[in-house]
Amino acid sequence: MIPVLALADLEAGRRATLDQLHDALRDHAIVHVDARAELGPEFFPSLHEQTRAFFALPEEAKQALDIDKSPNYRGYVAQGAEYTNGVPDLKESFEFGKETAAPEGEEQPWHAGLYGPNQWPDASVLPRFRPVVEAYSAAMDRIALATLRALLLTLDQPADSDHAVTSGELCSYSRLIRYRDPAGFGAGDSRLERHTDSGLLTVSLQEQRGLEAEAADGRWVPVEPPTDVFSVFGGELMEVWTHGYYRACPHRVHNSALRTERLSYASFFLPDLRRPLVPADRASSPRLSGPVAVPAGNSWLAGGRELSTTAPVGELEWARMNVIFPGRNNDGPDTENGEGQ
Ligand SMILES: [Fe+2]
Repeated sequence: MIPVLALADLEAGRRATLDQLHDALRDHAIVHVDARAELGPEFFPSLHEQTRAFFALPEEAKQALDIDKSPNYRGYVAQGAEYTNGVPDLKESFEFGKETAAPEGEEQPWHAGLYGPNQWPDASVLPRFRPVVEAYSAAMDRIALATLRALLLTLDQPADSDHAVTSGELCSYSRLIRYRDPAGFGAGDSRLERHTDSGLLTVSLQEQRGLEAEAADGRWVPVEPPTDVFSVFGGELMEVWTHGYYRACPHRVHNSALRTERLSYASFFLPDLRRPLVPADRASSPRLSGPVAVPAGNSWLAGGRELSTTAPVGELEWARMNVIFPGRNNDGPDTENGEGQ
């Protein structure tokens, strides 16, 4: 059973909540976070309404925001444009991030690619879309930071020290996702194939169920929190940072209960792009000094290489981003993406 933790209890660092967080991340690599009290009753209806209104725009209005028109991977992604494990995803999405400027100083290619503006729909057509999406983004920041700080406490890391995962400016990319109801969809098909997300953690919200997570014992567990409750799960950088103690959560979107349109939301968090990610000191916690190891499938360590502890995370992420989208490079459609839920 994946527990539901109250955001207030995470932020307060309650011992019982920290224990629940630890056990959930160890067993399932996923936990539910309830922020309904903090976000208020209008938050979720407004988000769904504006997301649905965006995807209902005429195709040409969406194509005007095509992600290929953005130098920093932000905008509209049409159905069939992305693949996971070689299979085209049955979704369309709107992708955005924080609109921060690149840091001053030496020019780096990833500065231009990972910072910068979003592509927004015409405000005269959808006047509430941008403020609603920006409020959603701020809420995701709060939930991610609260979870990360609580997670640090479960590993005996002092809350005020200079951590690789929470110091500086947390980076995030987000997606509003619409899964259409496709004709000819087979009973064994999935809408998004099994994968792990690459960042520290992912905060997701499902309007309709369908997400499944692979537990530590290999069972597929439906991710079915109460309505309007978020799911937070570990990514591959978390796995690297904790030496595999908190693993990345394999997940997929399965079709068995899905015969309708489905909206979902996902925000992917990375540490400060300007800093390297140095794995936690194993001597700093008994939990990290045990016999744990990063699984072989971790994409940051593919081919047996080690994560650079000197290169900024942004530089590593930029290299990774350049193999995500088929057609934008020479890697073809066999690239892995899976940044949906
Ligand atoms: Fe994902």
